[in-house]
Amino acid sequence: MKVLAVYPGSFDPVTNGHLDIIRRGSRLFDRVIVAILRNPEKKAMFNLEERRRILQRAAGKMSNVSVDTFDGLLVDYARRRGARVIVRGLRALSDFEYEFQMALMNRRLDAGIETVFMMPSESYSYLSSRLVKEVVRLGGSVAGLVPQDVERRLGTRAGKSRRPAPRKLRKQRKP
Ligand code: PNS
Repeated sequence: MKVLAVYPGSFDPVTNGHLDIIRRGSRLFDRVIVAILRNPEKKAMFNLEERRRILQRAAGKMSNVSVDTFDGLLVDYARRRGARVIVRGLRALSDFEYEFQMALMNRRLDAGIETVFMMPSESYSYLSSRLVKEVVRLGGSVAGLVPQDVERRLGTRAGKSRRPAPRKLRKQRKP
């Protein structure tokens, strides 16, 4: 029997850690649907359509991976799509409590859907979308941590939102 897996998340933005998990999932399952949560209440840096396009570009080369969006309960979405597996990445012990709660609640909601945890490469074990946004906002580099597409878009956004330095700190132009 073919096994279809859903890999859900906010992906705001997608990182190379997420892509690492997608790659591993695509080797393990017959099909992987990367499902972006539609959550109008949570203010995102990238809108849903941007995230969908970025993910499609980054993961579209894997022939058994597709990208979709969902709202409502994850287990309802997985059931509608005929998926029996939910994939989640586990980076460190700090992820465990939240993921454990979610996995058990999802199991309670639908015992026929199993959560499978996968570990990304250790070089991404500290990486998160939240830290990526913070580093970029404060002027640091995230090269090698996100797809180039994301890096470029983050750069433009940070450039726009960063406040200009106070007058006295700005470089004096030579007359
Ligand atoms: O990337 P994230 O933000 O950690 O992903 C969290 C996500 C989208 C997997 C989680 O918030 C979710 O499944 N939301 C859908 C609503 C739902 O099913 N809630 C009950 C989960 S126990």
